[in-house]
Amino acid sequence: MIVAPDDAGIRRAVRLLRAGSVVAFPTETVYGLGADATSADAIAEIYRLKQRPSWNPLIVHVADVAQARALARRWPAVAEELADRFWPGPLTVVVERAAGLPGDLDTVALRIPAHPVALRLLRESGLALAAPSANRSESISPTTAQHVLASLPEVPLVLDGGPAACGIESTVVDLTVSPPRLLRPGALGLRALREVTGPLTLPGGVVSGAVAGQDDARPDDGTVVADGVARPSPGMSRRHYAPRARLILAEDVSAVPRAGLAGPVAVLTYEGRGSGDEVLSADPGEYAADLYAALHRLDDARAGTILVQAPPDTEDWLAIRDRLGRAAA
Ligand code: TXA
Ligand code: MG
Repeated sequence: MIVAPDDAGIRRAVRLLRAGSVVAFPTETVYGLGADATSADAIAEIYRLKQRPSWNPLIVHVADVAQARALARRWPAVAEELADRFWPGPLTVVVERAAGLPGDLDTVALRIPAHPVALRLLRESGLALAAPSANRSESISPTTAQHVLASLPEVPLVLDGGPAACGIESTVVDLTVSPPRLLRPGALGLRALREVTGPLTLPGGVVSGAVAGQDDARPDDGTVVADGVARPSPGMSRRHYAPRARLILAEDVSAVPRAGLAGPVAVLTYEGRGSGDEVLSADPGEYAADLYAALHRLDDARAGTILVQAPPDTEDWLAIRDRLGRAAA
């Protein structure tokens, strides 16, 4: 059931988490399905509910940097700098894992979420919370409490923190290699990330921001040259983030022949690129905040096909193009 994140709601959530159960909670990116990160049984319950493949590891959410350090076997200087600059916030860092967490991986993905309800839950439970997005595996991530319940009706408790502000998942960066490797583009943009990390390896192996003035891959004018094909992150399966409807990503939706498409055909576009059933903002941040909610609405309206006007092929739109590409796969 959905409950308000007041004192009573938080108390109930803490009780469930301490008893090894799961709780869905809001973050600034998307809603998470949380469980005690040190309990193998509680984590197994997340995988069962989501029907998530066991090879896809979970992000561990913590309340402060000291707690993050304690879960890492090594905490590199770049992790400290990134934490300092971007936490709490939509950045996940992959570092070597300390002993004590269940599972046999030698790395762990960590983040401090920037949402007062998430932070309160982390502090009051005293637990590190493993939390993937609170949706069935491969479907669209939830940006409201109602989305969570629609996708995972068995979840015992959903804390309602209102619509998620970013609307798209965190950026995931692997700090166990040098230069750091981008595993998943997300709500934190690459420009900001590179200000701390310097050069970054992008999906596809391209090094971005290698030497000032010599960046053949992605110059800071926002141009994206290489798109990722080989994804090193275990969670980056090609089909992901998908609505029920067939999604077609088109460079010009008005030129797509409609004959033969499953109906009703819905159009998702953005300001300045024609009309549609859902017209999102031409600002990538605002577009991201509305994207999953729009896909949920079109699914609820029983669209057979969703024609999506492809956003510009620039770095500012990288995470959005990534998600749309997967939803269309
Ligand atoms: O914004 C977010 O990150 C949301 C909120 C709830 O925090 N969480 C989220 O979790 O998107 P999930 O499970 O849907 O995606 C986690 C991503 C996956 O791509 C997974 O493979 C990757 O992080 N990941 C987790 N642990 C990893 C590790 N040790 N090494 C490499 N990638 C890892
Ligand atoms: Mg997910």
